[in-house]
Amino acid sequence: MPPKTAQISAILGCQWGDEGKGKLTDILASKYNYIVRSNGGANAGHTIYYKKGNKTDKFVFHLIPSGIFHPKTKCVIGNGCVIHLPTLNEEIEELKKHGIKIKNRFFISDRVHLLFDYHKKIDAAQENLKGAKKIGTTLRGIGPCYSDKVNRIGIRACDLLDFDKFKKLFKQNLEYQEKLYGKLEINIDEEVKIYQKYAKFFKEFIVDTTQMFIEATNKKEKILIEGANGVMLDLDHGTYPFVTSSNPSSGGLFTGTGIAPNKIKNIIGVLKAYTTRVGAGPFPTELQDKLGDKIRESGGEYGATTGRPRRCGWFDAILANYALAINGITEINLTKLDVLSALPKIKIAVKYLYQNKELKNFPASLEILEKIKPQYIELPGWQKDISNCKKYSDLPKNCQKYIKTIEKLTKVKITSIGVGQRRDQIIFQ
Ligand code: GDP
Ligand code: IMO
Ligand code: MG
Repeated sequence: MPPKTAQISAILGCQWGDEGKGKLTDILASKYNYIVRSNGGANAGHTIYYKKGNKTDKFVFHLIPSGIFHPKTKCVIGNGCVIHLPTLNEEIEELKKHGIKIKNRFFISDRVHLLFDYHKKIDAAQENLKGAKKIGTTLRGIGPCYSDKVNRIGIRACDLLDFDKFKKLFKQNLEYQEKLYGKLEINIDEEVKIYQKYAKFFKEFIVDTTQMFIEATNKKEKILIEGANGVMLDLDHGTYPFVTSSNPSSGGLFTGTGIAPNKIKNIIGVLKAYTTRVGAGPFPTELQDKLGDKIRESGGEYGATTGRPRRCGWFDAILANYALAINGITEINLTKLDVLSALPKIKIAVKYLYQNKELKNFPASLEILEKIKPQYIELPGWQKDISNCKKYSDLPKNCQKYIKTIEKLTKVKITSIGVGQRRDQIIFQ
């Protein structure tokens, strides 16, 4: 059975991001009237592969929801995101090269916060100040922009529609930041000129998407919320401070779109068949050896946004269970199973030991997380190519055993299994 497509559904990354959310969103998009991004900004990199004639082409989304390749689906950037308009503009230009038109089917919340070049400069300055303790951010200005939002000095898309107000706010904000951080080398007049152009161009796309969703919900239209980043990068529930500055967990789905919590009927958790992380921070099941390198190479584990090598490790059932529980995940999309095909043995972490005792919770303390000793079970590999398997019964027995073991450990049904990058490389069960 393919994932349930309730009137309002969501897709959430349940590890440290890059689980394959973009691919699933693209696959399910044609079944929905709207796809909406609820959190994050261009720190996200969501990859899709699609058929163009008899060739396969690739697109990496940073801001636009991964459903835009389906001509009948409307795509929305929700209020919980932060957007850098020059990056969005580039993405729209790139889409044009792929033959995708956005008129009347792409919308930006008028409550979304705008991210400027100075946020990126502050991001870099803050990382430098942290020295060895740097987070390894994507340097996309995410933290500084959300800080402005929380600090109640942010500039929203609705402000751009009143350009005199925007100009005043932009100057005020930059002056404020420069008092804190010193000269940021931004040419105000030039920036204002550029934003005047953006104000004209984006005017037709900036709307009250909260009202749009109230109406769509009443009309029983179907909405899919596309989460960004991953639960373990959540500001509240992740491995703080090595996290992003928004809520990629289920809370962000509601605050980031204005869609009420009780309306969202199924939340599909995306889990890679192993674990990856890009940037610094604790990673209990990390493989800092040749095996980790091997997984990185076979999985093409290099950041879709920054190109950085992703750290790789075994599937962590403790972490997965924590993510599934706090987000109310109703079903799992297990991705990149094909990447493990060459391995003779595969491990899964099933228990954390700390000071020789089993930890019953996912600890808040970084010091504890760093000292944890994961306990593993070992399963036999299948050592057969599975990338052409179309149904569950085509998968080798040991591969089925691996899937069933994860299902048993998580007690959540795995309804789809990724066996390759392409749209057709997914098995529904
Ligand atoms: P996202 O941020 O969660 O959308 O994921 P990314 O796009 O950053 O990274 C996932 C990568 O894995 C992309 O290159 C996808 O094309 C690729 N991918 C997704 N699902 C599968 C799969 O089942 N098998 C393989 N081999 N690659 C996959
Ligand atoms: P998608 O949506 C993987 C990580 C960064 C860094 C930390 C903070 O593609 O899964 P930030 O720039 O947000 O302040 O960086 O969070 N990070 C991601 N890692 N995938 C992502 O998004 C990420 N978004 C942020 O690497 O460790
Ligand atoms: Mg990604």
